[in-house]
Amino acid sequence: MDAQNKVIVITGGASGIGRAAAYKFAEKGFKVVVADFEEVGGLKTVEEIQKSDGEAAFIKTDVANNQDVVAAVDFAIEKYGKIDVMFNNAGIGNGGASLLDHDAELYDKVIKVNQYGVYYGILAAGRKMKQLNIKGVIINTASAYGVLASQNSFSYNTSKAAVKMMTQSAALELAEYGIRVVGVAPGYVETPIMQRLKESNGIEKLTSKHMRSELLTSEMIADVVYLLSSEESTAINGSTLMLDDGYTQFK
Ligand SMILES: NC(=O)c1ccc[n+]([C@@H]2O[C@H](COP(=O)([O-])OP(=O)(O)OC[C@H]3O[C@@H](n4cnc5c(N)ncnc54)[C@H](O)[C@@H]3O)[C@@H](O)[C@H]2O)c1
Repeated sequence: MDAQNKVIVITGGASGIGRAAAYKFAEKGFKVVVADFEEVGGLKTVEEIQKSDGEAAFIKTDVANNQDVVAAVDFAIEKYGKIDVMFNNAGIGNGGASLLDHDAELYDKVIKVNQYGVYYGILAAGRKMKQLNIKGVIINTASAYGVLASQNSFSYNTSKAAVKMMTQSAALELAEYGIRVVGVAPGYVETPIMQRLKESNGIEKLTSKHMRSELLTSEMIADVVYLLSSEESTAINGSTLMLDDGYTQFK
């Protein structure tokens, strides 16, 4: 793929999977817009890319706010002239609250970030790609927890199941403009979001779900995200790929 003049917007690029994706795409020649509400982490991602002679910029973005997400896409177009790939990746957990402790505020908060955040990203990028006649790719981060119900994870599970269906529905509607929409559903990835799960479950319980008996790395997820953005994966559209080292495929 000739990535030299391509542009990607990555939400949640200040940490974990988003940061690894930022490094991967920059290394491949993409111009990277890091959109995150964590300024320090976001600027660090950009700085690291620039140190390696890559091209990147940060925009403070709360994905739960539609105007912020539109502004992030507009920023990419103003700065780099276009948007080829939108990676709707920012997400939060629900802090291990059980269903009956799940008050409406918590539910709202998780749905706003994980579900509306992706919805706003699909809309903002889809509209601009259509307007500029760009046959781009929109990639959404779901989760193995969007297909498996997991304990004390009600709003998170629900939000990630919605991401899978948003991916399918958007792919169907945007196909006529040559825009692909795909998803990734990671298993357990070694990132800050995993810390609470590790502490409450113990690491062995989590690694035992994977065929390799190890956690996944952010780089492993970023590699597939990059592949999904390329013409080599044109055959994949509307699907959410399980990046879970077999977790959801075997009992
Ligand atoms: N780590 C895992 O095991 C795992 C598994 C499945 C899915 N995921 C999903 O992967 C995605 C990335 O998570 P991660 O593991 O890299 O975690 P992480 O906590 O390292 O990164 C999440 C990033 O999202 C940002 N973010 C959170 N809320 C935001 C908001 N409102 N606006 C803008 N940015 C916001 C954070 O600042 C952070 O940079 C999330 O959607 C998560 O649900 C992670």
